[in-house]
Amino acid sequence: MTLLGIDIGGTGIKGAPVDVETGTLLAERFRIPTPQPSLPNSVADVVGQIAAHFDYRGPTGITFPAIVKKGVIFSAANVDESWIGTHASDLFSTHVGGPVEVVNDADAAGIAEMRFGAGRDRDGVVILLTLGTGIGSAIFLNGQLLPNTEFGHLKIRGKDAEKRASEKVREDKDMTWRAWSKHFNEYLCEMEALFSPDLFIIGGGASKKAAKFLPHLKTKTEVLIVPAQMQNEAGIIGAAYLAKHLAAPPAG
Ligand code: BGC
Repeated sequence: MTLLGIDIGGTGIKGAPVDVETGTLLAERFRIPTPQPSLPNSVADVVGQIAAHFDYRGPTGITFPAIVKKGVIFSAANVDESWIGTHASDLFSTHVGGPVEVVNDADAAGIAEMRFGAGRDRDGVVILLTLGTGIGSAIFLNGQLLPNTEFGHLKIRGKDAEKRASEKVREDKDMTWRAWSKHFNEYLCEMEALFSPDLFIIGGGASKKAAKFLPHLKTKTEVLIVPAQMQNEAGIIGAAYLAKHLAAPPAG
């Protein structure tokens, strides 16, 4: 079954058709910069352009970088505040011409990694952290997601973790990998102390450069830390996968 997946990020909105049985992209992803300001109607227009690019009308899975419950947005850390209270799935479905499932971006990436990537067949407590404009989190127990965890906002030295250790912070402050890894490692150790995970998966933009920072990371109980396997495609794949239930069952 092929469904469209769209990943809305702080800087870019990317989409591609996805084979939701195998978790693979069926065409090269198409990216449009996120409109600034990222107002609901402007973002929804871009979502429509991505569906049109693939000549697609139908069930679509869309990630959003905020708390999402039953299609409604409840927070806005890295997007325009006017999103709070917006019924995103209704808004987007008028632009893609089909039903839409909207899901938190890190939750979607986590689902994709657990089904098809670095977390496959992993039981116990698995924590996926995405490093991008912010820090996203997804926590699984025996493959089951606890949705909408917001651990990028855990306070470290009095500041949101994502304001000290996201990929954007590293770039904006021109930090060396070693200096940035210290910040990120402090955050990992705090997460370790709170959740005793069996595995950390590091995703988002920075996961492409895992070789630069993984050697600098070490938690107290030496929790296994691995890079995400689907890197920047995880959100698109996870969103499409989570939209499966919107598709009509095959006839016969
Ligand atoms: C948001 C999360 C999101 C994360 C990654 C945070 O600022 O609060 O909902 O998952 O950024 O985009």
